[in-house]
Amino acid sequence: EETQHGGLRTPIVAVLGHVDHGKTSLLDKIRGSTVIEGEAGAITQHIGATAVPLDVVGEVAGSLVDPSEFDLPGLLFIDTPGHHSFTTLRSRGGALADIAILVVDVNDGFQPQTEEAIKILADSQTPFVVAANKVDTIPGWQVHEDTPIQQTLDAQSDRVEQQFNEKLYEIIGELSDAGFTSDFYWRVQDFRSNVGVVPVSAMTGEGVPDLLAVLMGLAQRYMKEDMAIDVQGPGAGTVLEVKEERGFGTTLDVILYDGTVRADDTIVVGGVNGPIVTDVRALLKPRPLAEIRTESRFEKVDEIAAAAGVKIAAPDLDDAIAGAPVRAVRGRDLDDVIADVQEEL
Ligand code: GTP
Ligand code: MG
Repeated sequence: EETQHGGLRTPIVAVLGHVDHGKTSLLDKIRGSTVIEGEAGAITQHIGATAVPLDVVGEVAGSLVDPSEFDLPGLLFIDTPGHHSFTTLRSRGGALADIAILVVDVNDGFQPQTEEAIKILADSQTPFVVAANKVDTIPGWQVHEDTPIQQTLDAQSDRVEQQFNEKLYEIIGELSDAGFTSDFYWRVQDFRSNVGVVPVSAMTGEGVPDLLAVLMGLAQRYMKEDMAIDVQGPGAGTVLEVKEERGFGTTLDVILYDGTVRADDTIVVGGVNGPIVTDVRALLKPRPLAEIRTESRFEKVDEIAAAAGVKIAAPDLDDAIAGAPVRAVRGRDLDDVIADVQEEL
């Protein structure tokens, strides 16, 4: 089972930040796709999910990540909208996260939804790193595609490096104002007490290897116990979207954050008139690196383990609501599961 790896669960990495600061672009860079081009009005309006397997993390990170040193199966990235009207979706994304990337445009610095995102992360005590994005826009910047940040920085002129430092220290200052001590990630010893700032360009890929290395290190070192859950237990997840799917009727796009869902499970899902009890008709898994929101070719599977994005087809889903809990009943008392779902609605 590719979603399991030594019993460890895939960490969920939420990407948060102000509108246009480059969240979707950063994920596009990592998954080697261009989801951003298909976005209406060019702003993200939904939560997305993309599973990035460990070997791809290793490929993108090059010499900075040796996959054989990790026993995590990969990373599940959650994309969130930065536009001010989507506060609920940002909170939902933040609530699902094991770790997070706060994306900050080096030219814009902290903006209202940066502040909002940091508050969500602070309230939920979610460890995060800052991706200081768009370093390629520093005037005079010489691009070295997809290279680690030190390598490209060493090749920049003194003037560019000085501007780079100024912009980065501004962000470190803003983090301090928000109550977080932080530093360039390569100077951070303990990522729990200090926020690592990773300079990147989602456009050129510079610094992206570093960002993945920091995320993997953070997940492996500090979250291993959380990840060692019983992935065979009955699944628990959150509905991202309720959608018509040709041939399947109304379906749920779900982030599964705990346990397993099977194709023969009875599930309980939150609906407008209370919990809905229904039987899974099909479990549809997006391909690796596919954004669940835009995926068109799903693979039908017998079971899927956390963490993962999955489309669930079942009867009677018309009244299901985005943001509601989903639970597999398997082996438990149905009334208890209904009560659990009711409580979370
Ligand atoms: P929302 O989802 O609407 O909050 O925006 P977002 O944070 O996902 O930003 P998005 O990835 O859509 O990028 C916004 C714009 O910034 C696009 O035009 C990108 O091409 C551009 N952009 C993103 N990252 C970079 C970067 O590193 N360098 C440069 N030069 N442009 C970038
Ligand atoms: Mg976006």
